[in-house]
Order: sequence, then C-alpha cells, then structure tokens
Amino acid sequence: MNSTIQANGTILIVDDNSANLGVLSDALSQEGFEVRVAKSGKMALDRVKYALPDLILLDVMMPEIDGFETCRRLQANPETKQIPIIFMTALSDTANKVEGFKLGAVDYITKPFQQEEVLARVKLHLKLYVLADKLEEKNTLLEQKVLEVSQAYEDSQQMQLKLIQSEKMSGLGQMAAGIAHEINNPINFISGNLGYAQEYAENLLKVLHLYQEDYPNPTPRIQSAMDEVELDFLEEDFIKVLKSINLGTQRIEEIVKSMRIFSRVDEAEVKAVNIHEGIDSTLTILHHRLKAKPEHPEIELIKEYSQLPPVECHAGQLNQVFMNVLSNAIDALDESNQQRSFAEIKQHPNRIQICTKVIDENWVAINISDNGRGVCETIEPKLFDPFFTTKPIGKGTGLGLSISYQIIVEKHGGRLYCKPVLVGKGVEFVIEIPIRQQVGQVA
Ligand SMILES: Nc1ncnc2c1ncn2[C@@H]1O[C@H](COP(=O)(O)OP(=O)(O)OP(=O)(O)O)[C@@H](O)[C@H]1O
Ligand SMILES: [Mg+2]
Repeated sequence: MNSTIQANGTILIVDDNSANLGVLSDALSQEGFEVRVAKSGKMALDRVKYALPDLILLDVMMPEIDGFETCRRLQANPETKQIPIIFMTALSDTANKVEGFKLGAVDYITKPFQQEEVLARVKLHLKLYVLADKLEEKNTLLEQKVLEVSQAYEDSQQMQLKLIQSEKMSGLGQMAAGIAHEINNPINFISGNLGYAQEYAENLLKVLHLYQEDYPNPTPRIQSAMDEVELDFLEEDFIKVLKSINLGTQRIEEIVKSMRIFSRVDEAEVKAVNIHEGIDSTLTILHHRLKAKPEHPEIELIKEYSQLPPVECHAGQLNQVFMNVLSNAIDALDESNQQRSFAEIKQHPNRIQICTKVIDENWVAINISDNGRGVCETIEPKLFDPFFTTKPIGKGTGLGLSISYQIIVEKHGGRLYCKPVLVGKGVEFVIEIPIRQQVGQVA
C-alpha cells in the first residue's frame, strides 16, 4: 500500500464519456485533489503502471475492457490490489452494484452525479485508505516486535541450556576435584600404614617360624588352635591379602591422581601441560564405560602417542573436550552394538584409537576415531550446531560438540573438525591446537 498519500490524494477517473470526465475532474480539482483521467479501461491499466493513484473512480460501461474487467485486473495485480475503487453506475443498476462489490469495489456512485455526494464518498474512502495503511504499518511493526520477543525468548532459553551444560561440565570437574581431595587423605593413611602392616606381618611370621623351629612339638592346646585357624593356609594367604590391598590402594591413588589432572580446577590460568596426562585422566574417568559388560566385550583402546612438547592451554577445559569426544565415540559404539550379538562384537571388536602428533613447530594434533555407527552426510554439517543431537530426550543435549568447538576454536585459537568417513565405518575427530597461546588470545 502507498504509505505516502498526499493530504488530498491522487484520483484516477476512468470514463469513456468526456462530459462525465470533465464534470468530475473539475469538481475534484477544485477540492484540491490531483486528478488524472483515462478514457478506457486499457488506458487506465497503462496509467497505473507509471504512477499509482490513491483512489480510482471507475465507470462500468465502457467499450473493449469494461469497468468490471478493469477492476478484475487491478485486483489481480499485487501492486494495484489495495487501491480503493468506486464504481460509477446508473441509478437503477442494482445488479451492477452487486457485481462491483463482489469484484472488490469499496463503493459506488450513481449517475447523474450529485457533486456533494461524490466528494463525500471520495473523501471518506481516501480517509479509510490512509487509516488502513497506517493500521497495516502498525500491524507489521507489531508482528516484527512479536517476532523479536519470541526470538529473544528462544535465545535466552538456549543460553540457559548452554549455561546449564557448561556448568554441568565444570561441575563434573569440580566434583572430580572434590572427591579426589576427600579420598586423598584416607588413601594416604591406608597406603602409609600398609607398609608397616606388611613389615609387622613379616616380622610376626619370622618369629612364628623361629618358634616352630625351636619348639617343633607344640602342646595340644597350641596344636588345636593351629589346626582351627589353618595356620599354613593363613600364613600363605595373609601375604596375598596384603599384596592385593596394596594393589587396590595403588589403583585408587591412580584414579585420584587422574581425577585431579582431569579437573585441574586449581589451574584457571593458561599453563603448559602434558596433553597425554589429560587424555589418560579422562580415560580413567571413563574406564567404567570402556570395560567389558554383559552386553559387549571390552572396548579396545589403541593409543599412538608421539613425543609432544608441553602445550599451553586451559587444561581443565581441554580435558572437557576429550571427555565430550570420547563419550560420543562410546555412545556411537553402544549404538552400533545394538544390532549385534556379543559374539559378533567379539569378532569385530569396538575400537577407539587416539593418535597424537606434532604438525609443525607451532601446532599439535589429537585424532580420536572410533568404529561405531558413523555419521551420514546429512547430519555431518550439523554436528557442531548447538542443540543438534540424534540421541533420545534425556540422553543428549546436543551441546557437547558445540561447547568443545567453542573451547578449541574460540578460546584456544585451534581447529576442531570431523573427517568424512563412510557410514558404518566410524568417525574421526581432529583437534588441532597451537602449542603456544598468544597473549590476549585466550578469553
Ligand atoms: N563419534 C561419533 N559417531 C557418530 N555420531 C557422532 C559422534 N560424535 C557425535 N556424533 C553425533 O553428533 C551429535 C552431536 O553430538 P554432541 O556431543 O554435540 O551432542 P550429544 O552427544 O547428542 O549430547 P551431549 O553431548 O550434549 O550429551 C550426536 O547426537 C551424534 O549424532
Ligand atoms: Mg556428546
């Protein structure tokens, strides 16, 4: 719609009768309207192509293209559809009036013209036209505002979810650090005392052996106590028990160390770290998902670590990336296992391969691949989109890779991408990061 209607507007009068044209055009010009005339429907259609009037007075009876047809064509054109059309018809032509309204005319005036009536109707419809125009403008604005508000709402929801996810990840790190800290004291206590316990046990047994050598014939009371406790077995097993306690303690100590390395909450700053320690600590935390289960044998882990220099990074965040990529690989393997029996999986085992290498003097790369269900071409471009997930509700939020991308690309100036691999053959994720972070680059 024309939003720049003049105070009095432009009116196009279409009539094959010159006398009518003259009378109307004089009357309207005198009132300050800008008047244009057309002596046929065809001429009217031509004229509107060059300049759109604000209102059209249209005669019904004209040779060639009559008023109705002219109206039909004006209505069919999106450019001219909105222009109000007032038909001019003879007083008795009820059928024509009805037809005119059906075709979209806003009003009619009857011949012979009553000047006052013509002016009143023209002014009324121009006013309505302007008001409708304003209303539409307001409506568009309102629609835009509604769109903006709903977009803002959606953005804030996404932001909240993103925050929850990153909080979840850093919460995981903090929890790991907290548990590691809590376990650290008692485990030091056990491992510290275990050495003494072993030593005391050995000493006691030594003394016992001396007794046995010097008094080879025990009294009946001692003999029956020895039989009751199965002394020979006890002696043998006691040392074994202590050894396995020792092994268990060492394992807990390793886990605690891994949890501390994984979280690195105390290292908010950029620090040069050993990347392999980070990967290994993540693998320790994921150990429960890698080991054999009733539904599948152990996931094979192939590590091809090269000699890497220390890499400057936010170690805790980088470990979150390893965690996301490795958990995705395990998920993909779990999915591929769903259609396979234990025996089939054993024949073609689940495998995760981790290779690290120096690309050049400034960059290192970590490639993590799996032989899980793979990624098809249609979803590959969406992998790093926030909220893109193929996992059921409650299992995946679709934020793991987008947050990893943010950490690697935006925070560390690195690269994270997925190498195209055929469906069913698994997927390879490549993490490339600079060995040194330039000052100011890291947010
Ligand atoms: N190794 C992989 N093999 C096959 N598909 C993968 C692999 N890694 C990621 N994908 C696909 O990418 C999607 C997005 O991964 P992303 O880690 O961002 O989210 P998610 O794992 O679905 O959920 P979240 O990590 O938030 O719990 C996954 O749903 C999965 O379809
Ligand atoms: Mg994930």
